[in-house]
Amino acid sequence: MTTPSDFAALGARAAAMIEELGALSQTPEHLTRFFLTPEHRRAADLVARWMREAGLEVSEDALGTVRGHWGPVDAPRLLIGSHIDTVANAGKYDGCMGVVAGILALDAINRAGLTRPYGIDILAFGDEEGTRFPTTLSSSAAVAGYFSPANLELRDADGISLREAMVAYGKNPDDIPAAAYDPNRVIAYIEAHIEQGPVLEAEGEPLGVVSAIAGASRLSVTVTGEAGHAGTVPMRMRHDALLGAAEMALAVERIAKADAHGMVATVGRVHVEPGSINVIPSRVVFTVDLRSGSDISRREALTRFEREAHRIADLRGLGVVISAFHEVATVPCYRDLQLRLRNAVADLGHRAVTMPSGAGHDGQAMSRLCPIGMLFVRCKGGISHNPAEYASPEDMGLAVAALVRFIERFQLPQLAA
Ligand code: GLV
Ligand code: MN
Ligand code: MN
Repeated sequence: MTTPSDFAALGARAAAMIEELGALSQTPEHLTRFFLTPEHRRAADLVARWMREAGLEVSEDALGTVRGHWGPVDAPRLLIGSHIDTVANAGKYDGCMGVVAGILALDAINRAGLTRPYGIDILAFGDEEGTRFPTTLSSSAAVAGYFSPANLELRDADGISLREAMVAYGKNPDDIPAAAYDPNRVIAYIEAHIEQGPVLEAEGEPLGVVSAIAGASRLSVTVTGEAGHAGTVPMRMRHDALLGAAEMALAVERIAKADAHGMVATVGRVHVEPGSINVIPSRVVFTVDLRSGSDISRREALTRFEREAHRIADLRGLGVVISAFHEVATVPCYRDLQLRLRNAVADLGHRAVTMPSGAGHDGQAMSRLCPIGMLFVRCKGGISHNPAEYASPEDMGLAVAALVRFIERFQLPQLAA
């Protein structure tokens, strides 16, 4: 089925589906769709409808992951997935592209009448971005069998716990263990995702194969000072929590820039109390997101930051508490799957660029269950986590065709070591 006119038709369908999903948002002017919200519900229902239309048998687990099953029920499973939650003011392609590509690939496989000695499940996860609760990858962690029950007590910005949000979504936290796959019954996890960076565009190639997903640490840093009158307290007598936090954020930047392994660090959220124009800030909570392909240099950077933060706090007469709430090591993609994906892309007349992923993905959690492989799709200007995010229908059509070729070539549920 993989002729160029088929690619174009698949790409056009992918683009239309992504537009439809992109309209399901908390606010009409931006795309914002957080985990276990009413808009997540609407997106999950739409995905379930598309799965049924593609001939898949649909179910949903305790953390809202939508699953569409194809093929034999009792045979081992090949898993293909991505996520349908978004950051605030997001682009439409991050995550959704991979879910849509998986559904369209199985639709094409069904139409071609292909049978396989293994089953395939398409998974639409709901918590890849970690934008609602101070945890991330919780839905894929449940599927991989290592969800931590302590996370049920974590609270969102409105004070709602993950447990409460699940119940409001119609789920029972006691059902979480049943979301886990048996590792002996899973062959591999494959994810198609937009690249979210500029490499494929620079290489002039539509598709890439991921070699590894960079490790990441996320910190919550609380700086405490002393509130005071903005008009009366002399500068030398202040204990301004925000100025200390600002200096710590610059220290994060310095540490990342000095790293030889392309480390990246971001202070993406800052909460200031009391948050009043005429009061010296007394308490600041900010986040640090630190990533590197080298786990050793990431850990060294964390130690250096901790030292710097305490030095800055001491000089300014502030308190500082640092807590790590997310820590994942660099995850290599399975070599056999990289090769199979490259071959599938080569069948379409393209050279897959092999590259690491700086962005986080559900594959990080899924790697604890089974071998993982990832296919990247070129995106315009390398822009992501931004409403300007864009992947062309042509490139997305090729990604669907590459998944189809991957399945067509994957006869036996066995991987080379
Ligand atoms: C998810 O998109 C992440 O890498 O933060
Ligand atoms: Mn993503
Ligand atoms: Mn993202």
